Amino acid sequence: MRNALIFGATSGIGKELAKLLVEDGYKVVITGRREQLLNEIRETNPANYIVKVHDVTNLDSCETLFEALKTALKTIDLIVFSSGVGDPNYKLEWEKELPTLQTNIIAATKIYGLAYNLFREQGFGHLVGISSIASIRGNRHVPAYFASKAFQVNYLESLWMKGKRSKAKIYVTDIRPGFIDTSMAIGNTFWMSTTEKATKQIYTAIKKKKKKAYITKRWNLVAILLRIAPSSLLYKFL
Ligand SMILES: NC(=O)c1ccc[n+]([C@@H]2O[C@H](COP(=O)([O-])OP(=O)(O)OC[C@H]3O[C@@H](n4cnc5c(N)ncnc54)[C@H](OP(=O)(O)O)[C@@H]3O)[C@@H](O)[C@H]2O)c1
Repeated sequence: MRNALIFGATSGIGKELAKLLVEDGYKVVITGRREQLLNEIRETNPANYIVKVHDVTNLDSCETLFEALKTALKTIDLIVFSSGVGDPNYKLEWEKELPTLQTNIIAATKIYGLAYNLFREQGFGHLVGISSIASIRGNRHVPAYFASKAFQVNYLESLWMKGKRSKAKIYVTDIRPGFIDTSMAIGNTFWMSTTEKATKQIYTAIKKKKKKAYITKRWNLVAILLRIAPSSLLYKFL
């Protein structure tokens, strides 16, 4: 049986992806801070979900968790980092910026590194990061979030490069969603995808071991436009 580990599986993309993986025969370790939500997911298929209540910003506990899972599962085929936060911060209040940096940058780096080194040790594995279309340019409303997603994209590409040159079979996939109707998406915005549709596309990209994938596919077009748009125009919209 294949084993998967998902960070941020209490809701949204992580929760939906866990469901697809279990349906496809994986045993899935689901993590996050909200214990009750994790237990409710496990109830739907107790044999194939393992619950670990875990805050990714507690860096020591990340190492402890990996050690415990190595002992319990022996190998992990797929690790997904879907945990993420990011609120608008018009006044640049530090208290609002800090959790975004701690979760999306510091914790992400810690988990990416632990995952990569585990894969190197066991000789194979697939790391998936959920970054964002927000990674491409800045945004005056949510600066830390957009910058943190740019960090994730570059870090994931570095790991992809390392994986390509490694003797171990290590794959790295960077998933870049547009708007998906989870609790993270604010308000009613254009091209909002259902979580189900978006996550199906994410799983297809994972199965194809893609280097990166915009979700849904139409966001490929937005990515191109964002790249070529001059800042003198962009600041009026973003
Ligand atoms: N929805 C969108 O439109 C969209 C667009 C682009 C990118 N994304 C990215 O997609 C990823 C998933 O977000 P989502 O849309 O599925 O939203 P979501 O439903 O709010 O999911 C966020 C997940 O992150 C977890 N999380 C947050 N802080 C954590 C912490 N300190 N420790 C452990 N887990 C933590 C949450 O679990 P707990 O609160 O239980 O800990 C939750 O499971 C995020 O990285 C987000 O940036 C989303």
